[in-house]
Amino acid sequence: MITILGAGKVGMATAIMLMMRGIDDLVLIARTPGKPQGEALDLAHAAAELGIDVRIEGSNDYSAMRGSDIILVTAGIGRKPGMTREQLLAENAKTIADLAEKIRTYAKDAIVVLTTNPVDPLTYVMYKKTGFPRERVLGFSGILDSSRMAYYIAKRLGVSPASVNAIVMGMHGEKMFPVPRLSSVSGMPLDRLLSPKDLEEVVTETVKAGARITELRGYSSNYGPAAGLLLTVEAIKRDAKRVYPFSIYLQGEYGYEDIVAEVPVVLGRGGAEKVIELPLTEEEKRRMDEAVGAVRKLIESLPEELRR
Ligand code: 2OP
Repeated sequence: MITILGAGKVGMATAIMLMMRGIDDLVLIARTPGKPQGEALDLAHAAAELGIDVRIEGSNDYSAMRGSDIILVTAGIGRKPGMTREQLLAENAKTIADLAEKIRTYAKDAIVVLTTNPVDPLTYVMYKKTGFPRERVLGFSGILDSSRMAYYIAKRLGVSPASVNAIVMGMHGEKMFPVPRLSSVSGMPLDRLLSPKDLEEVVTETVKAGARITELRGYSSNYGPAAGLLLTVEAIKRDAKRVYPFSIYLQGEYGYEDIVAEVPVVLGRGGAEKVIELPLTEEEKRRMDEAVGAVRKLIESLPEELRR
């Protein structure tokens, strides 16, 4: 059973994708009375139409997550006009701390995957507040960031994004670090395929992708995160050992301690079973330092009780 916390745009796009693949039964939990129940009922009808045998329930009661092996956290607010990043963080950190408590109570063996923004410091809060082993507390964005980079590379080269191997590390936000040197098409390094100017544009487009969507349609992405969450759930359920970037609590990897950062991990039944340490050049390490420093600054802006 998979629980989705939050029945907003990301939660529901994820629910649709999971239902379409018939991976497992779904529970949707959100605070607004009627909302998760209504969404679940509509989606259950869709599953019935398609002949897909999954149970889909909605509830305002958090104990409905009992028995879930995966909890996808999509709850929280988006940035409102005039709101700073720190204010959004402080607001959502309270929500995440509260959900962590509920997850600890009702689903203490689950793997938790978080999409709420800013995702890296909130993954830190979730990790601290659940007290779960770090393998079971993952911040989602890396699959999306890397796929966006692959998309922008593929567009320039006239190949399928599926044939592009792109990697983004560090954090989800302005200081995210797309790594051209470690990205390739069929083994051919990117710097042989794209001019320095094109490479720079790919990096900028990748970093700005989320903001671009928000600017165009007035609210942030949901299909992109949903597709990545589908891959995440599939890799966990099938114990596939897929290598994807996730935000995870670091314990010395890349030289960082007591911080969450986006790095490649091996994803299987146990969650992030292994953190992969890519050899970085000095310049790349400097970029990682900037990304990690930005996350640390956000964490330090939180009230003490939310980061213990
Ligand atoms: C995105 O990158 C806003 O984090 C969201 O689309």
